[in-house]
Amino acid sequence: MADKKAQLIIEGAAPVELPVLTGTVGPDVIDVRSLTSTGHFTFDPGFMSTASCESKITYIDGDKGILLHRGYPIEQLAEKSDYLETCYLLLNGELPTAEQKAQFVSTIKNHTIVHEQLKTFLNGFRRDAHPMAVMCGIVGALSAFYHDSLDINNPQHREISAHRLIAKMPTIAAMVYKYSMGQPIMYPRNDLSYSENFLHMMFNTPAEVKPISPVLANAMDRIFILHADHEQNASTSTVRLAGSTGANPFACIAAGIAALWGPAHGGANEAVLTMLDEIGDVSNIEKFLAKAKDKNDPFKLMGFGHRVYKNFDPRAKVMKKTCDEVLGELGINDPQLELAMKLEEIALKDPYFAERNLYPNVDFYSGIILKAIGIPTSMFTVIFAMSRTVGWISHWKEMIASGQKIGRPRQLYTGYAKRDLPR
Ligand code: SDX
Repeated sequence: MADKKAQLIIEGAAPVELPVLTGTVGPDVIDVRSLTSTGHFTFDPGFMSTASCESKITYIDGDKGILLHRGYPIEQLAEKSDYLETCYLLLNGELPTAEQKAQFVSTIKNHTIVHEQLKTFLNGFRRDAHPMAVMCGIVGALSAFYHDSLDINNPQHREISAHRLIAKMPTIAAMVYKYSMGQPIMYPRNDLSYSENFLHMMFNTPAEVKPISPVLANAMDRIFILHADHEQNASTSTVRLAGSTGANPFACIAAGIAALWGPAHGGANEAVLTMLDEIGDVSNIEKFLAKAKDKNDPFKLMGFGHRVYKNFDPRAKVMKKTCDEVLGELGINDPQLELAMKLEEIALKDPYFAERNLYPNVDFYSGIILKAIGIPTSMFTVIFAMSRTVGWISHWKEMIASGQKIGRPRQLYTGYAKRDLPR
């Protein structure tokens, strides 16, 4: 992969030659691993220009608005695949045969139940605790239940941990929701699909078990697909860094959940609905756009902008199409959707947003569909975490299998030089 060279000229020092590595698609990278021999580090807070690893899982072209999972466009996966098939693809690198798919679905179904003792963890939380706080705690606690699969160097342990996490996240998420509602927990059912099962555990009760709407189940499954992976985003990078220390996969996924929670990242879907509530009416849009443009105002247009996409986020396009389908099939006329579409229309015409290539991202419309499905705003990022678990664990597996060294960035130190205590 290194057929080109870069030359670094540092004043007062001999020129340094650095290999330039070329991937399948996307920008070449300058391999700076040997730079420490010159007594220099690179400096890139926020990793604006830094490739932290080599990966074969997901490719994003931010300028063209392209997202590929193992080479397959997200639009095709959202239209023609389902979440568990996408999970198999992300984990294994290829689409499953019919037999492999059936086996994978059966394996996941047989890991959906959590240890009965795990339910007692809920009682330590207030009923009004934010669901993401509870998710961090309970997923981290899974480490305490699966001592039989914590040898990260054992490929079988890595595989069963991945299956357990993908299978149990919906069960845990629904438990967290039911606990917040003061309702009895619903156990998973093996006769339902992954998305049907999640909606069953969320909205059915022991007193009444209603059939799951195929419209809602399909919308849920598509939301899971659209959030499944996104290369080296903040939470995935957190999982990779935690995993590089040899921490067990459950602890690493808990770290990913914590990182996802922030409003600049996965917390944005919840923040978009809060923002739309604050805007309230089309007549207030200009006022809020002015706030978003005011450098002295911390307000940002939630669901807009992206570190990588400088064009439409392809997931936002599919999400908006799904919005129209779901609300249409449910006969819902959601004023927040109207407001969101008007906000998008006005913002995209505004030079501030156009000059900065700020477009709607995956979070801009997802909340409107989740609300139509009946999921409360406080659970939106939990849904994101559930969906992204397969991405996190796929990157974790890839990082472990690559034998990557522990991640340990350096710094530009600007504090005091050595000084003695004044006594
Ligand atoms: C996700 O990384 C991933 O892949 C994430 C994700 C995934 O699937 O894992 O795609 C999921 O996190 C999507 C993003 C969700 N977050 C939001 O919607 C929150 C609102 N967006 C912003 O906070 C922001 O756009 C970020 C955090 C998403 C990206 O920020 P960057 O890349 O650091 O960009 P920046 O802050 O340097 O912005 C460049 C300029 C700045 O203005 P100037 O200094 O050039 O004058 O654009 C401005 C920013 O102030 N800007 C915004 C804005 N986003 C950027 N101004 C107003 N509103 C916004 N939303």
